[in-house]
Amino acid sequence: MNLSTTLAGIPLNSCILNASGPRDTTLEELQALQTSESAAIMMKSCTIDSRPGNPEPRYVEFTGGAQQSMGLPNHGYQAYLEYAQILKETSPKPIVASVSGLSPEDNLHIIQAFQDTPVDAIELNLSCPNIPGKPQTAYDLTATDRLLEQIQSTKPLGLKLPPLLDPALVRDFCSCITQHQVSFVTLINSVGNTLVIDPATDRPIIKPKHGLGGLSGSMIKPIALGNVWMFHEALKDTQIDIIGVGGISFGRDVYDFLLAGATAVQIGTAYQSENIPVFSRLNQELLQVFAEKKIASVDTIRGTLQEYQ
Ligand code: SIN
Repeated sequence: MNLSTTLAGIPLNSCILNASGPRDTTLEELQALQTSESAAIMMKSCTIDSRPGNPEPRYVEFTGGAQQSMGLPNHGYQAYLEYAQILKETSPKPIVASVSGLSPEDNLHIIQAFQDTPVDAIELNLSCPNIPGKPQTAYDLTATDRLLEQIQSTKPLGLKLPPLLDPALVRDFCSCITQHQVSFVTLINSVGNTLVIDPATDRPIIKPKHGLGGLSGSMIKPIALGNVWMFHEALKDTQIDIIGVGGISFGRDVYDFLLAGATAVQIGTAYQSENIPVFSRLNQELLQVFAEKKIASVDTIRGTLQEYQ
């Protein structure tokens, strides 16, 4: 019984890794991930220049989830080229760069820059909802198609997507990406442009974007799971892998994402609140689920969700 998997041709000793976003911006945070039970090191989405991100308050947790509008605070892509080099010198653990340029040209430039580095894969974030005035690229299929057309990457390329809430949208999206060199999709980013009002103040709980921000945590798990299931159906005859993310708090949640078709999962909100120990806890809990159900491996259950007949 083991939790290993292969994502975009990269062997991982567990199917559980961190999501880009929480606690992966500084070299110290990335080094903590390196020695953790996270199966890979996902780095913070980077832009051309370093960014302080959006004004505070920009991250608030509450029962069942969190809302945030971080605004891509990061050290600029050149720092992450260097961090990847430093990390790889001490451990072979897979490293994934996350790219979130503010324009197509920025994305092409950053993806090109990561080609000559030891990163094992690149996740192109087409779904950040938190940059004022910038729509989420993945909601514009023409723009997505045009961008993918221009990308040349020898590293496996994945796309981090926002929720697509209709099977027809998913099918159109998958028809597009199967024309390009996409190795995996990461489903889903936070649910964008949500509003949470603080009853004590009658104001939004966060400041940026008039209070609109990305919703995450256990309350979005059914949305994420539905997306994984729809993409699994649309991509099952392709080589494109699925990473599930959204509301994973327990080993049983990981199991659900595997049943729905994920090859691996990412942990965001639970990692933000529990820090590094979350990875060993989830690995243990998933092993327990496997033991109870006599499951030998991730491969044997991936996408095997049984429907009503
Ligand atoms: C952020 O930094 O605003 C979060 C990243 C994302 O939603 O892609």
